[in-house]
Amino acid sequence: MPENLLKGKKGIITGALDENSIAWKTALKAKEQGAKFVLTNAPIAMRMGAINELAKECDTIVIPADATSVEDIEKLYSEAKEYLGDNFDFLLHSIGMSPNIRKGREYGDLNYDWAMKSYDISALSFHKMMQVAEKMDIMNEWGSIVGLSYIAAQRVYPFYTDMADAKALLESIARGFGYRFGKNKKVRVNTISQSPTVTTAGSGIGGFSSFFNFAESLSPLGNASAEACAEYIVTMFSDYTRMVTMQNLYHDGGYSCTGISEEIMEKLVDQK
Ligand SMILES: NC(=O)c1ccc[n+]([C@@H]2O[C@H](COP(=O)([O-])OP(=O)(O)OC[C@H]3O[C@@H](n4cnc5c(N)ncnc54)[C@H](O)[C@@H]3O)[C@@H](O)[C@H]2O)c1
Repeated sequence: MPENLLKGKKGIITGALDENSIAWKTALKAKEQGAKFVLTNAPIAMRMGAINELAKECDTIVIPADATSVEDIEKLYSEAKEYLGDNFDFLLHSIGMSPNIRKGREYGDLNYDWAMKSYDISALSFHKMMQVAEKMDIMNEWGSIVGLSYIAAQRVYPFYTDMADAKALLESIARGFGYRFGKNKKVRVNTISQSPTVTTAGSGIGGFSSFFNFAESLSPLGNASAEACAEYIVTMFSDYTRMVTMQNLYHDGGYSCTGISEEIMEKLVDQK
């Protein structure tokens, strides 16, 4: 295993809710690779308390911030800069939530107030994090910003409902801001399109276990785990990926390029 890939790097990790979270695993890997960072999550997630255990393990602090609030993000960055003693080399946006999915509303019966919340929490917050970072001039040159996406941005997964639209917006924001940040500050911006993963956000999607199993059977390497995703994120924060920007990077065991697999053919064989 490589060592100290993130030595001397500082940043912010959003979205660690519990030990299954992609952000949780990323925090542990980033710490292992020598990074210093601040953890953050929505104030409501703080009540569950688990993130404080992670902070202890990572020898850092937690600063609550609702990622839909520009003021919260400004406060988060100021306090994190004070704590870290420096500007940031990396930002992880690992945030997603759809009230429509939570409350079982299907795509033809969306509550539009909730849909706006889904887009705000899951996509626009990525723009807000970057806009505030640009305005505060808080990213170091050659920094790296990563958001997490899902292939429902490109293809229809009926139960993913308004989150699919949120992910399409998230990926578009990565391109739009990637251009600006590249020109202005040599900062790269990418999304990682991750396999279905057993987490609170993942398993909240209707039919999750079916598309988890389907993806597992289709992907030549199987589904990518949260831990493997954390490792990929760490490489994206490292200096070995400095020229990768404005991309949606599939981290899915080959799923996105596979039409059908022998396993699925066997399951669907005509028994007549
Ligand atoms: N689990 C999967 O199958 C899967 C697949 C592809 C992409 N993703 C994406 O990965 C990211 C991380 O999700 P996860 O699977 O680790 O699940 P998770 O539930 O552990 O993480 C989602 C996080 O978003 C946070 N959050 C929600 N509203 C917020 C707000 N207003 N402000 C700040 N934080 C807020 C939650 O508190 C939680 O920590 C999400 O963007 C998700 O869509 C997940």
